[in-house]
Amino acid sequence: MSAPSCSPPEEELLEGESAEASLDLDISRRTFVKAATILSAGAATGIPRIATAEDARLAAASEPKTISITLRINGKSEPLTLDTRTTLLDALREHLELTGSKKGCDHGQCGACTVLIDGRRVNRCLTLAAVADGAEITTIEGLAQGDSLSPMQAAFLEHDAFQCGYCTPGQICSATALLEEQKHGALSTVSFETGNLSNPQLTDDEIRERMSGNICRCAAYPNIVAAVRAVERANA
Ligand code: FES
Ligand code: FES
Repeated sequence: MSAPSCSPPEEELLEGESAEASLDLDISRRTFVKAATILSAGAATGIPRIATAEDARLAAASEPKTISITLRINGKSEPLTLDTRTTLLDALREHLELTGSKKGCDHGQCGACTVLIDGRRVNRCLTLAAVADGAEITTIEGLAQGDSLSPMQAAFLEHDAFQCGYCTPGQICSATALLEEQKHGALSTVSFETGNLSNPQLTDDEIRERMSGNICRCAAYPNIVAAVRAVERANA
C-alpha cells in the first residue's frame, strides 16, 4: 500500500504548467492583438497626430519664453528679463519690490492693483508687463515728492478715507487720474444721465461713478468721495 502523496502527480503538474503556459500565451496574444488594434485605429483616425500636437503644447507650456524689456517706473528705467506671460502687477511686486499697489482679485474686478500708465489708470493684473515696455508708469510710490505727500494722498489722510488700507493705493492712483480725466472733459454714465455733457461738474454722483472700478471692502466710500471732492475744489 503506498502512502498518499501530498504533491500532485507529475502528469497533473505538467498539465497545470502547460495550462498556465497556454494562458500566458493567450493573454500575450490578446494583449498583442489589442495593442495592434489600438495602434492601427490610431493611425487611421489621426490619434498619433493629436498626441504629437498635445506633446508640443505641453513642451511649450513647460518651457516659458522670456522677453527683455525696460519699464519706466516713477521716472526710473528698470531693465527686466521676464516670462512673456508676466503681468505688470507681478513684474512690479515680485521683481521690483514695488508692493504699494495690491493684488486683490487678480481678475480686473477690484481695482486694488491700479497704477497710471502714461497718465491713464490701468488694472495692472490684466496688463502684460511686455505691453508697458517703454511707457511711463506711475505707482503709488511715485506720487509723493520725497517726504511730501501728493494732494490726493494728503486728502485721504485728512478725510480718514480708509480703514484697513488694502484698497487705498489703488483708490489714490485712480482718484489722481480721475481729476486729470475730468480736466480733459471725459464723460461718465452720470454725465449722460444728467445731460451734463459739456465739462460736467464733479458732483458726488460723478465721483462715485468714476471711482466705481475701485472696490473698498471696508466701505470707506463716503470719506473717499469727500477726499476726492476736497482736492477737486482746492484745484478749482
Ligand atoms: S487685483 Fe487687479 S483688479 Fe483686482
Ligand atoms: S480700506 Fe479696507 S478695503 Fe478699503
